[in-house]
Amino acid sequence: MATQKLTPEMNSLLARIREMGASAPTLDELERDIVEAMSEQIPYYDWTGFYRLDPEEPETLVLGCFVGELTSHVRIPLTEGICGAAVVEGETIVVDDVKTDPRYLSCSLRTKSEIVVPIRARGKVVGEIDIDSHSPAAFKEMDRAFLEEVAGIVGGYLERQGGRAV
Ligand code: SME
Repeated sequence: MATQKLTPEMNSLLARIREMGASAPTLDELERDIVEAMSEQIPYYDWTGFYRLDPEEPETLVLGCFVGELTSHVRIPLTEGICGAAVVEGETIVVDDVKTDPRYLSCSLRTKSEIVVPIRARGKVVGEIDIDSHSPAAFKEMDRAFLEEVAGIVGGYLERQGGRAV
């Protein structure tokens, strides 16, 4: 459970998110409750959202629930963006300075750093959590640990639903 690396605020948020994962009636509601709670509780999570692999076109990510500025990146091919790279690599990607990463697709001129965490169900990547911050190098080991726990909760929810795409 990697919880000792987290702040007390993150641990209590995780406990709330575990409850959400146990009781959310739909995936959309679970995603919405998670992005709202994270953006309220963690001040440097300035854009907080989910992308899902399109079941009709599995080489493309589709924007799900989010809190933050509107983005033109509502569909992202896996060949593009930090978002595409995180699915292809199947690993969390942390970018301390988005200006220096040629893969970066800009959502807001204010974004300085980004973390993208894949969500797996039955061993396959089905979507991801994407967080942008207006602060440079905002995402530390504890953010990775926290968000990987959240991704595990969403992946577990999907598995209980029968493994449908996020
Ligand atoms: N920055 C992402 C695109 C999504 S927006 O930030 C919401 C990327 O490089 O894939």
